[in-house]
Amino acid sequence: MKVELRILRYDPEAGAIPAGDAPVVGLPAAGPHWQRYDLEVDPMDRVLDLLLKVKAEQDGSLSFRRSCGHGICGSDAMLINNRNRLACRIRVDQLGRKISVAPLPGLPVVKDLIVDMSGFFGKYRSVKPYLINESPEPERERRQSAQDRTKFDDTTKCILCAACTSSCPSFWARPEYVGPAAIVQAHRFIFDSRDEGAGERLEILADEDGVWRCRTIFNCVDACPRGINITRAILEVSSAIVGRRG
Ligand code: SF4
Ligand code: F3S
Ligand code: FES
Repeated sequence: MKVELRILRYDPEAGAIPAGDAPVVGLPAAGPHWQRYDLEVDPMDRVLDLLLKVKAEQDGSLSFRRSCGHGICGSDAMLINNRNRLACRIRVDQLGRKISVAPLPGLPVVKDLIVDMSGFFGKYRSVKPYLINESPEPERERRQSAQDRTKFDDTTKCILCAACTSSCPSFWARPEYVGPAAIVQAHRFIFDSRDEGAGERLEILADEDGVWRCRTIFNCVDACPRGINITRAILEVSSAIVGRRG
């Protein structure tokens, strides 16, 4: 089948004028612009297959991230037909003959579909996303009941793709908001019975740019490729903060 693929392109170097040179008339637009590609594809092809096809056959300068190709690494989240999706998980037959692809919203664009994730990962690190336990090590493993394990089962599924945070209007309005992904990562440890750092994390998330910025808009839940109930996780963290204060 034929599809019309439109990609929001941006090359920071296009039209760049070498230092000392006079401006040249007719240079390509340096700003973001839509570029159309007509492709012959299979309905079962994924958007990632289409991007790889464009790069191999039409324009080797097209830039995007991908690694595993199977929904595990989280590197190819992008705005596909106006919703945040993983390019390796969404197929042509789910999208139709007109497909648009743009970088994740709300994050600075480095080139084409590549966004700068440093702020996103900075927030991730800010919630201490690792096990904190200063107690003497037991002889064998730190044990946990199956019931306790279920408390954070959902949030262990996060692959840090940023689809949630970059779809959140509260984050667009206030980029300082820690965002749903970081809260999901904090939740994973706050509710782990082996962890002793819950108090520190709850304090961090009680900050003015923590959980209270969430307005339960649910875009994050719709965007999450792992089906995580992000809003529930945020509410559980909020309740834990309130419970501590009470
Ligand atoms: Fe991606 Fe879901 Fe994790 Fe958000 S919670 S970063 S959407 S996997
Ligand atoms: Fe944003 Fe999700 Fe809350 S979209 S406002 S983090 S429910
Ligand atoms: Fe790894 Fe899509 S390429 S999640």
